[in-house]
Amino acid sequence: MQFLENFTPELTVASPGRINFIGEHTDYNMGYVLPTAIGNKITFKLQKNGTDNFCNVYSVGYKGFSLDLRNISISDTEWENYVLGVLNEISKLTDSVKGFDCTIESNLPLGSGLSSSAAMECGLAYGLNELFGLGLSKIAIVELSQRAEHSYVGTQCGIMDQFASVMSKEGNVILLDCQSLEYQYIPIDIHPYKIIMLNTKVEHTLASSEYNTRKLECEEGVSIMKKSNPDIKSLRDATRYMLENSKNEMTQTVYNRCSFIIDENKRVLKMVDAFQRKDLEAVGNLLYEAHQGISKLYEVSCPESDFLVDFAKTNAKVLGARQTGGGFGGCTLNIVHESAVEDFKREAADAYKKTFNIDLEAFEVRPSGGTKIVNF
Ligand code: GLA
Repeated sequence: MQFLENFTPELTVASPGRINFIGEHTDYNMGYVLPTAIGNKITFKLQKNGTDNFCNVYSVGYKGFSLDLRNISISDTEWENYVLGVLNEISKLTDSVKGFDCTIESNLPLGSGLSSSAAMECGLAYGLNELFGLGLSKIAIVELSQRAEHSYVGTQCGIMDQFASVMSKEGNVILLDCQSLEYQYIPIDIHPYKIIMLNTKVEHTLASSEYNTRKLECEEGVSIMKKSNPDIKSLRDATRYMLENSKNEMTQTVYNRCSFIIDENKRVLKMVDAFQRKDLEAVGNLLYEAHQGISKLYEVSCPESDFLVDFAKTNAKVLGARQTGGGFGGCTLNIVHESAVEDFKREAADAYKKTFNIDLEAFEVRPSGGTKIVNF
């Protein structure tokens, strides 16, 4: 791209991906989640280019594109919509963004359930906020990035990913109440265990549409329970008792979805308790329990993720495992004893290759800090 020849970036922003320990699909049900950012990130380099409206965006591994700030609309090229969506949302808040050039580079595997989307949205919003002195708060960046995902990408996501990407703190997970947005950092010390991610390298194309369907099924469950419990606004307010009382009025599918969310919310609080007591066996069991629900009740797993979780269960040095993120592939999160990490990675890769003929990717992650400006 032309602009790269004169590219002398004023600003570098690092925007991380995230893992979620537990609390899957609870965010858009106004419940609890327990995510943290990880070391894998997307790096943005930005400069003002002196024009009022022309921008050039180049992403390593993709074709770059140019845009006019006065004329922003949804693109046929998927990744461009993360950029366009953010610009569209920022334009509703301020007209202080002017022409800029930007390069994007990532070591965050795409479509792996580690939320490269939120890292894209939040990193760009964070960088533009700094470059043009927009005065947006961190929470405004989180919220506008979530809206960008709704309107330009088309996934009706909750707030977890964007929140984790921006607000995380090294060595901690965030207990976030997605209803009030109150949050608390929970230090995690899992020594002598490590967090090992296994990337199935599977990304099902139905993920976005199925995601939106899950959200609608949860809403249907709420509207049925509301008939006898007019005060409930979301599954966050629903109890097992309410669900059982309304069971006959709903399909088995809607019942299963609600059942999972009600339990999953409780599991988040149990997980916090387990971390605080440093009861790592309990941490592991909650992961296995959650995966069972993800797979059988919420039905957002896939044969590849199920295989890896079942494989983890055969290894006594693994305390627990589950698929993390929106689902239908991506990564499993495994708590593995440090003495067994290398063997576990190798054995899992061999077994996975034999069964699916896919080269597994395995890597360690650590709870890391959120989006930041980095010096260069
Ligand atoms: C995706 C969404 C999040 C959340 C998770 C599932 O990552 O972006 O908002 O719903 O799925 O927990």
